[in-house]
Amino acid sequence: MSQAESRPWMDPARSPDERADLLIAQLTLDEMIGLVHGPMPNLLDTPPADAARGAGYVPGVARLGIPPQNATDASLGVANPRKVRKGDGATALPSGLALASAWDPDLARQAGAMVGAEARAKGFNILLGGGVNLTRDPRCGRNFEYLGEDPLLAGVLVGEAIAGAQSNDIVCTIKHFAINDQETCRHVVDVQIDEGHLRESDLLAFQIGIERGRPGSVMSAYNRLNGDWCGENDFLLNRVLKGDWAYPGWVMSDWGGCHSTAKAALGGLDQESGEQLDKQVYFGDPLKTAVQEGEVSFERLTDMVRRILRSLIAHGAFDRPPEREEIDYEAHAEVAQAAAEAGTVLLKNQGLLPLAPSLKVAVIGGHADVGVLSGGGSSQVIPVGGAALEIPVTIGPSSAFSQVTYHPSAPLTAIGARASMVCYADGQDLAAAMAIAAQADVAIVFAEQWTTEAEDVPTLALPGDQHTLITAIASANEKTVVVLETGGPVSMPWLDDAAAVLQAWYPGARGGEAIARLLYGEAEPSGRLPISFPRSVDDLARPEIPGMIFGPPEEGRTIPTSYPNVQQHKGRFSVAHPEGAAVGYRWFDRQGTAPLFPFGFGLSYTAFAHEGLTLEGGETVRARFTVANVGDRAGVDTPQLYAVIKGADGIAGLRLIGWARVALAAGERREVEITADPRLLAAYDVALPGWRIDGGAVAVSLRSDAQTVTLSGETELAAHTLAP
Ligand code: BGC
Repeated sequence: MSQAESRPWMDPARSPDERADLLIAQLTLDEMIGLVHGPMPNLLDTPPADAARGAGYVPGVARLGIPPQNATDASLGVANPRKVRKGDGATALPSGLALASAWDPDLARQAGAMVGAEARAKGFNILLGGGVNLTRDPRCGRNFEYLGEDPLLAGVLVGEAIAGAQSNDIVCTIKHFAINDQETCRHVVDVQIDEGHLRESDLLAFQIGIERGRPGSVMSAYNRLNGDWCGENDFLLNRVLKGDWAYPGWVMSDWGGCHSTAKAALGGLDQESGEQLDKQVYFGDPLKTAVQEGEVSFERLTDMVRRILRSLIAHGAFDRPPEREEIDYEAHAEVAQAAAEAGTVLLKNQGLLPLAPSLKVAVIGGHADVGVLSGGGSSQVIPVGGAALEIPVTIGPSSAFSQVTYHPSAPLTAIGARASMVCYADGQDLAAAMAIAAQADVAIVFAEQWTTEAEDVPTLALPGDQHTLITAIASANEKTVVVLETGGPVSMPWLDDAAAVLQAWYPGARGGEAIARLLYGEAEPSGRLPISFPRSVDDLARPEIPGMIFGPPEEGRTIPTSYPNVQQHKGRFSVAHPEGAAVGYRWFDRQGTAPLFPFGFGLSYTAFAHEGLTLEGGETVRARFTVANVGDRAGVDTPQLYAVIKGADGIAGLRLIGWARVALAAGERREVEITADPRLLAAYDVALPGWRIDGGAVAVSLRSDAQTVTLSGETELAAHTLAP
């Protein structure tokens, strides 16, 4: 008998649905149960031979040709948790916020394709990427993994990154579904928010991301949402994801995020991941018993298995299983560098940048002599060849899996290759740092803020004495540039003193090189903030982080970036979300508060003008205008289209409805067209249910950032509704 006859499910000519159904007909109950739960292979005494030793493993069914599921983190590169794969480094992208700062769907796709290629070449068929939780708090420890505060921008970019990853014939997730917006108490907070608000914010980011990226799997979030854990939340998983959006893939729990058997299975969870972290293996024997006793129907178990098999088949795990391959790390580092260059945001420049090569430069602080900072947690990439510096974390929730890690791309080396003379001070000795700054033509201070999964930062201030350091250096040399390597927004009481500020986020494998190229004008700064920088936490919807407790200083955690006196509340509690869908700039707009730097903001070494806005209405808004580079060097402009729309709560507010990224030579001009996704022009109507556009006049503006209007107009929308 040929394979086509004996194993028809292996026939690539058949549809993934058909193949999954053919397989299901062959599976025993035990085999089905075996496919819906799995361990962290690294915590097993003897990991199976076919485990690729990433974050997750689910055994296959060899007799039927079902491959094992090998999952690795994640969004910023292939992680190597606890370095179990000895000496196995990977290419680190810059942080998600850097990627989002590029506002560049093509770049997001390339970045995703690069990470997916490395995952595949290391033997993984599932990438735990696609983090798209909207930034509702600039202090959230995981903001660096995500794509900012706007559902359209984040949704488009995550979709492209997922599509890129999956172009390698592997599955990529989208996560963490939904509203995992603070790390403090992430396992116990119960987020309270209305459905309309949810649909117009975080859920819209997921919806757009799923439409564009078609991820094979969705990872549920740790927190509860309106009472139920996200991993057993009927509303989220059954009604919205699988119902309204007809999502065909499977829902896996986050590691330690499965809390029940029947409730989770009936609530829409299809697979229990990292099962050793749960109180028990709910989807093992307890699920088998629940099926045998009819508490969970056999049809539902079949649906769980079908979803998993269907996605694995649709995304190549059967037809093109991963094979270990050599990786061209040099080529991949170039992708990381391109992302860092496009995603670095020039926040201030009083004519100091770009630097001339003839200058004597003092480089100060931020471990700029060894490398660039990265964020901590499950997304941690161990660089190829090893970290430049690792500082152990000894207390706090992140200490279980984090080390403060620097990638070996030292800004000092890259600047040194360009300056006529360079010297370095680590900033610990203020007088010594001031002395080298005073003798130099330019001082460049590297300031840093380490953030990590499992913890939020208690304050927007740069940790330690960095504020004092920057002020002192600026007093010693008025030509002081501050380069920020931070997980998210920080306050800048020293802003008036600095002549230039470059927001480099966590810039990844070639961060030092990218920073130097931007400082010297070999690359043009083109990043735009995907997130608002508040003046004060008092301007946020929640000035205090719910569940964060400030205790007496604890001994033990001595890294310069740490907050040893912060602890987390234990036990369940609710967190109101008064901002609703007015996340980030929408909140600042609603409150009439000016941020320190608005969403969408970023300077260039050249200048742009927007001209001749024409608007067309109807079912959506179409805008046409011209962008001109009116400066004397090449650059990239990112004109942003906004509208004032009444949301589910009846309050009219500002929304990004589209943007363009336009690269122009000096003096060049180009006509640009932007068509809005009509859901951004609608209110979500729970009673309908669906999106409702009332029709009538709508105010539309072209802006260079959320606060700066360059052109405006009005057009008429036709009243209509859209499916949820
Ligand atoms: C994180 C996930 C990650 C998983 C596996 C969890 O702690 O929240 O994002 O994919 O671990 O490492």
